[in-house]
Amino acid sequence: MLIWNKDVDSKPYDRLKKVPRPGHSDLPAWFKYGGFNDPRGGGHFSARLTTTFVMGGAIAKKLLSYVFRTEIIAYVTEIGGIKSNDVDFETAKKLRYSNEVRCPDRVAASKMKELILEEKGKGDSVGGIIQCIAKNAPVGLGEPIFSALDCDLGGALFAIPAVKGVEFGSGFHAARLRGSENNDQYTVVGKKIVSKTNNSGGILGGLSFGMPIVSRIVFKPPSSIPKTQTSVNLETMKEEELIVTGRHDPCVLPRAVPIVESVVALVLADHAIRAGLIPPVIGKH
Ligand SMILES: Cc1cc2nc3c(=O)[nH]c(=O)nc-3n(C[C@H](O)[C@H](O)[C@H](O)COP(=O)(O)O)c2cc1C
Repeated sequence: MLIWNKDVDSKPYDRLKKVPRPGHSDLPAWFKYGGFNDPRGGGHFSARLTTTFVMGGAIAKKLLSYVFRTEIIAYVTEIGGIKSNDVDFETAKKLRYSNEVRCPDRVAASKMKELILEEKGKGDSVGGIIQCIAKNAPVGLGEPIFSALDCDLGGALFAIPAVKGVEFGSGFHAARLRGSENNDQYTVVGKKIVSKTNNSGGILGGLSFGMPIVSRIVFKPPSSIPKTQTSVNLETMKEEELIVTGRHDPCVLPRAVPIVESVVALVLADHAIRAGLIPPVIGKH
């Protein structure tokens, strides 16, 4: 698979070679690569690279769906402090791409859009949270200790630029719960053992066990904003004012939804292959 980038405009990046953007990779990359970093378009720190995640993710989703009927959906639950109402899986699946914000709660979505445009108008940006649910993933995915399912999902999700936090199930809220509240008690439905709640987010001991795999991913407000900020000129070593121009997202979350779905699909498919659950050749041949 190949994508030609035919719409390149590197001019706004000329100054960033000498004056790094606060909050972006320019300065650490300048240190790391001894000045040989390429800030044009963000170089290899750009979210352009995540198109490849989505390319691979499309195949991973098909594999998982074909072999296990796994469904993976991600959607925006919070932007700039505006929270959506909880929606069930089917509603989220149906409505998540029905608006530009990619939030299945339409009322919250329109407030979020308004906020993004308002902050963009002020030369600022906003962050938020995406929730991802993988249903019907096979049982037993994960290779403890260092390739536990949550290790690998977390590692891959953190590879998406601007991700600053990942939690599974009750996540950070578990810090405030008692064991009796956080434990998911078991029961039998049909012939299947299920848990009555899903505070584990579908992963215990680094292994999937049949409950939906639920993660929430925090994205920071993108750093390239046309507001006056202070940086340092790397040649003169003096403070300089910087206004970042160019084509930048005032909020990355709507674009990040398919990236999150793809990353989760890639990790689950990879683990299913490692567990020998996906045959090397599928279908008639
Ligand atoms: C879909 C997507 C689009 C992004 N667009 C921008 C952008 O337009 N401008 C920007 O400064 N950062 C953008 N970012 C974030 C930067 O790539 C990221 O902040 C930067 O590489 C530094 O890495 P870090 O934030 O993970 O530390 C985007 C991220 C994603 C996932």
